[in-house]
Amino acid sequence: MKIRKTPSISFQLPFDLSGDHVEAYVKKISDLDASYEGEIPDILADKMAYRVASIPAPTPTYEGSLNFGITYLYPYTINGEYSMTRGHFHQNRSFDEYYVGISGIGFLLLWDGQDEVFVESVYPGSVHYINGKYAHRLINIDAKETLAVGACWNTLAGHDYETINRLGFPVRCFEINQKPVWINRTK
Ligand SMILES: [Fe+2]
Repeated sequence: MKIRKTPSISFQLPFDLSGDHVEAYVKKISDLDASYEGEIPDILADKMAYRVASIPAPTPTYEGSLNFGITYLYPYTINGEYSMTRGHFHQNRSFDEYYVGISGIGFLLLWDGQDEVFVESVYPGSVHYINGKYAHRLINIDAKETLAVGACWNTLAGHDYETINRLGFPVRCFEINQKPVWINRTK
């Protein structure tokens, strides 16, 4: 039996994604200015909000090709509002996605763009099937630990950030008395 070398990808403590073809981008807290209710303090503006490391599907891609990535969402709050990703719809709403909690604790916020909004708890080992009709955002509710979440999605799904930038999610998550509290969005 020929044993093939595991290609391109590995998890290594502390669950950094390493291997061939890893791409990464970073969002600074100031890049999330439109996401938070409160003003971002100057002292936090240049700090990292989150990093996304991913491995694109091998080329040439085809209809069923999949990407894999990990989001590392760092712990901080803005006027009590927990750290979050921008969140997005898929450009093609008929493409679903898997999220898997790797480390840290938080929430996956899901919204259909209308009246249906709900969250799932994210923790090491949690598995989340995201129907492509829902916009999705990660929220880190731990004061110290990074929330790391793996994701697998079709290359044709695409990212629609513009709709969320324009509409925002309908709820926000604040730390009040050391507990997460959900508040309807006013801004
Ligand atoms: Fe997605």
